Amino acid sequence: MAGNRTFTMIKPDAVESNNIGNILQMITDAGFTIKAMKLRRLSEDQAKKFYEVHAERPFYMELVEYMTSGPIVAAILEKDNAVADFRALIGATDPAEAAEGTIRAKYAESKAKNAVHGSDSDENAAIECAFHFADEEIVG
Ligand code: PPS
Repeated sequence: MAGNRTFTMIKPDAVESNNIGNILQMITDAGFTIKAMKLRRLSEDQAKKFYEVHAERPFYMELVEYMTSGPIVAAILEKDNAVADFRALIGATDPAEAAEGTIRAKYAESKAKNAVHGSDSDENAAIECAFHFADEEIVG
């Protein structure tokens, strides 16, 4: 059975362009409940660790540099079928391929500056939620 939690980050480009509110509105309009949220700036070590699965990919250091270039909003979201439904809401990684009406189609600039992150599996959602939030920071 699909899990009911996913993890998201509103990335530095979308924070910089003042789209935190617009993106959160789209998320809650789509039926997600926010269970935890914080504005934070990742250190280089934190970004490297978070994206360690991509360490061998050619864009890894570019991704780390970008994700540490400004504040991000980290959040835990709850909804039935959260991981798949959230990935549908955000659209494809490359905004040029993202379906109309998705968050990335509206607010992303490029494959790197693509406005939001969404977990790709229930297993990674649990890891990513625990990476950013202690149990007492998550509302019951
Ligand atoms: S996915 O969702 O894993 O299938 O997407 P993928 O294309 O594998 O990209 C994984 C994350 O890497 C980011 N990315 C890039 N960053 C910098 N430069 C380039 N060229 C680039 N290409 C992809 C992409 O935004 C994904 O970030 P997250 O936070 O996981 O969405």
